[in-house]
Amino acid sequence: MSFPIHRLRRTRSSLPLRRLVAETRVTVDDLVYPLFVVPGSGVRREISTLPGCFHLSPDQVAEEGLACQDLGLPAVLLFGLPEHKDPLGSEGYSERGVVQQAVRALKQQAPDLLVITDVCLCEYTSHGHCGVVQGDKVLNDPTLELLSRMALSHAQAGADVVAPSDMMDGRVAALRLTLDEQGFDELPILSYAAKFASAFYGPFREAAGSAPAFGDRRSYQMDPANAREALREIALDLKEGADLVLVKPALAYLDIVRAARQEFPVPLGAYNVSGEYAMVKAAAARGWIDEERVAREMLLSIKRAGADFVITYFAKDAAGWFK
Ligand code: PBG
Repeated sequence: MSFPIHRLRRTRSSLPLRRLVAETRVTVDDLVYPLFVVPGSGVRREISTLPGCFHLSPDQVAEEGLACQDLGLPAVLLFGLPEHKDPLGSEGYSERGVVQQAVRALKQQAPDLLVITDVCLCEYTSHGHCGVVQGDKVLNDPTLELLSRMALSHAQAGADVVAPSDMMDGRVAALRLTLDEQGFDELPILSYAAKFASAFYGPFREAAGSAPAFGDRRSYQMDPANAREALREIALDLKEGADLVLVKPALAYLDIVRAARQEFPVPLGAYNVSGEYAMVKAAAARGWIDEERVAREMLLSIKRAGADFVITYFAKDAAGWFK
C-alpha cells in the first residue's frame, strides 16, 4: 500500500536535508559540567577513574570556570572533598569549606557562569553515607537539619542554585524553609528527585572519596526496578518546592526521563553519570569505539527522551561539538 509511494529514505539522502528534518538538537546551552574541589591552592590532579577531569583547588576551579564560560557553557556543578571527614560531615557546611571557597572564587572570576552546588553529606562523612548514621541505620529527619545548613552556607557563599542529591525524604521542603527564612527566597532548588541506587556511580565514588564504609545506599536511593515510584518522588519534590528536577543516572533510565517529561511541565535534567562516561573513555582508549560519535549519540538520546539539560563529564568537549 505505502511502498513505493512512500520512501522514508528520501529525507535521509543528504546532509542539508537531514539537518532540516532533525527532530532533536543538542546545544552548548544544554550542558552542565561537574567539578571536584579539593583543599589547597594550585592543585590540578587528573582523576584516575574520570580521565580528562581533575581534582582542583578553589583557585583552579575559578580558572576552570573561566574556561567553561569561554566555551559558552551555562553552568558548572560543584562537589567537594574536605580536608577532614567526621561522622556529621561538618566541613560540608563550614563557611571555610572547599566548595564555599570555590563558589566565592568562581563568582569573582567567572561572573557569567551559573554555579550549582551539590548538597549531600557523603563526601564529608567519615562513614561515607549521605546522612546521619546511628548503628547501621541512616537517619532521615536528623539529616535534614545538616543538609539545610549546607545549602544555606552555599547560598551565603554566592551559589546560584543548590542541588540536593541525598535522597532523604522531605529535604526539599527543609531546604526551601531554611533558604526562605534566611532571605534566599529567590534561590532555585534543583532536586535529584529520581536518583537510583546505581553501580554506574562507581568511578564517582573514587573521584569524590565517598564510597560508603559499610552497607550500601539502597535504604535511601531508589530501586532500579521502579518507574512509578520515580514519578512519585518527582511529584513530592515538586510539591515541596523543587524548581528543577533531575533523573539519575541517564542512559539506563531514559524511560524515566520520558515518563517524567510527559507527566510534569517543569525543567527536567538528566545526569550522564561517571560510569556512563568511564565506559566510553575506556572503550575508546582501546580503539573499540569512536569516543566523539558515541558521546554525541548519548547526549542526543538523553535529549530525545525529553531532558531539557544534561549534566555530563563530556561537557567541555561537547561544547566544541555542539556549538
Ligand atoms: C552524592 C552524589 C553521587 C553522585 C552525585 N552526587 C554519588 C552517590 O550517590 O553515590 C554520582 C555522580 C556520578 O556518578 O557521576 N550523593
